[in-house]
Amino acid sequence: MGQERKVLWSGRFGQGAADETLAFTSSLMVDKRLARYDILGSLAHARMLTRQGIIAQEDGERIAAGLKELYAKAEEGALEIDPQLEDVHSNIEFLLTSMIEDAGARLHTGRSRNDQVATDLRMWQREAILDTIEAIHTLEHVLMERASDNVDVILPGFTHVQHAQPISLAHHLMAHFHRLARDVERFAECYRRTNISPLGSAALAGTTYNIDRLYTSELLAFKAPCANSLDGVSDRDFVAEYLFAASLCAVHLSSLCEELVYWSSPEFGFVEMDDAYSTGSSIMPQKKNPDVAELIRGRAGATIGDLLNMLVTLKSLPLSYNRDLQEDKAALFAAHDRIVACLRMAAAMVSTVKFNKERMLAATKDGFLNATDLADYLVTRGLPFRKAHEVVGAAVRYCIEQGKRLEELTLEELRSFSDLVEEDVFSILPIERCVLRRMSVGGTSPNVIPMQFSQGMSALQRQSTMFQKERARLQTAYRRLLE
Ligand code: ARG
Repeated sequence: MGQERKVLWSGRFGQGAADETLAFTSSLMVDKRLARYDILGSLAHARMLTRQGIIAQEDGERIAAGLKELYAKAEEGALEIDPQLEDVHSNIEFLLTSMIEDAGARLHTGRSRNDQVATDLRMWQREAILDTIEAIHTLEHVLMERASDNVDVILPGFTHVQHAQPISLAHHLMAHFHRLARDVERFAECYRRTNISPLGSAALAGTTYNIDRLYTSELLAFKAPCANSLDGVSDRDFVAEYLFAASLCAVHLSSLCEELVYWSSPEFGFVEMDDAYSTGSSIMPQKKNPDVAELIRGRAGATIGDLLNMLVTLKSLPLSYNRDLQEDKAALFAAHDRIVACLRMAAAMVSTVKFNKERMLAATKDGFLNATDLADYLVTRGLPFRKAHEVVGAAVRYCIEQGKRLEELTLEELRSFSDLVEEDVFSILPIERCVLRRMSVGGTSPNVIPMQFSQGMSALQRQSTMFQKERARLQTAYRRLLE
C-alpha cells in the first residue's frame, strides 16, 4: 500500500528529515484551503495525460474516479488530512494512492508541485477576486442608496479639516463610491493576469512528455497557458497585485471610517452609529463607541503589512521556484478574509448610520463657506479674481472682528469693501444657493449629482453581469471535470 511513504521525496534520503524539520517546513495548515482546486487541477492533468496516451486509459479512469470521490469529501469538509504530510498536494496524492495504488502514483507524471501549487493558487485567487468585487459592489450600492436619499442635505466640505465650501451629503458619499469603483477596476485587471495557467511548466523547465498545455488550460477555464515555464512556477505578481488592490481598498475604507469616527464625536455630531454596530465601555456606563469603524481603520495596517510581506519575499528571489514562495498563501488568505469582512461590516454600518441633518446644516453657518461665492460674484462684475480674493479676505477679517457672517453684513458694509457690490449679492450668499449653483460636471449641485447615480449604476450593473458570467463559466468548467 502507498501509505508507507510519508513524504513525496523519500527516495534520495537515507534517514528521514527530523520531525522538527517536517513541522517547520509544513504548509498544510494554511494550504489545505486549496484542496478543491488541487483536485480539479489533478483531474485536468490526468485527463490530458490519458488523452495524450501518456498514461493508460484504465489508469486515467481510476485516477478520475478516485479524485472525484476526494472532491466530494472535500466539499463536505470530510477530507482526512494527515498533519504529518507537508502540504495539501502531498495529502491528496497520498489519499489517492491509498485508494488506487499504482494508478494514483502515475498522476504526477509530467508535473511538479511547483506548477501544481501555482495553478491551485491562481484558481483560488480567481474566485477570491470575484468574492471581493461582490463585497465592494454591496458597499457601493449602500453608498449610492444613502446618497440618493440625501441629495438635499447640506454640510460643510472640508480641506485641511477646515470649513471650505458647502456641499451636498450625497456628493460626499459618492466620492467614497468612486474610490471603491476604481478598486473594482483594479481587481478586475488583476483577474485578467491571474487567469493564466502555469500547469505543465513542471518543476521549472517544462517536460519531455508530449503534454497538451492548451487542453489543461481550457479544462480549467484559464485564458491561456503561460509562455515561459520558469516564469510559470516563480511568478507571484498576481498575488502582489491582489494585495495591492486590497491594500488600497483598505485605505479607502479606513478613510471612510476615520470620518465616521470623528463625525460621531459630540464636537461634530454629524452622525450617530446604529447600536448594532457600536460597543460600550466596561467602566464608563454612558459610552457608545464606534469600535467597528475603528477596527476597519486599524486593520488596514495588517493588509498593507501583507503586501509588504509579499514584496519583500519576492525582491531577492532568483529564478525559479524557491521555498520562500510558500509564504505567499498565508499573506494572501489573511488579506482576502480581512478585506471581505471589513467591506461587509462597512456596508452594514453605512446602511444603518443616522445622519444628523440639523447638525450638518448648522455647521455650514460658520466658517464663511460662501466666501468663494462672494469673490466669484465680484469677478462677474469685472474684478480680476486675485483682487476679488483680497477684497473678500478683508471682508472676512471684518466679519470676524464684528462677530458676523458675510450674509449678515448690510449692503453698505459690503460696499465699503468694493463698490461693485449691488443688492443682488444677497441672492448668491445663502449657503443653499452656493451648493445649488455649482453645476459644473462632477460638481455638488443637486441638479448635477443624479448624473453620478445613473453613470455609477450602469457601471455597477454592467460589471455585475460580467462577473456573474465569469463565475458561471468557472463553475461550468469545474462541473464538466467532475462529470
Ligand atoms: N508547499 C509548497 C508551496 O506552497 C509546494 C511546492 C513545493 N515544492 C518544492 N520544491 N518543495 O510552495
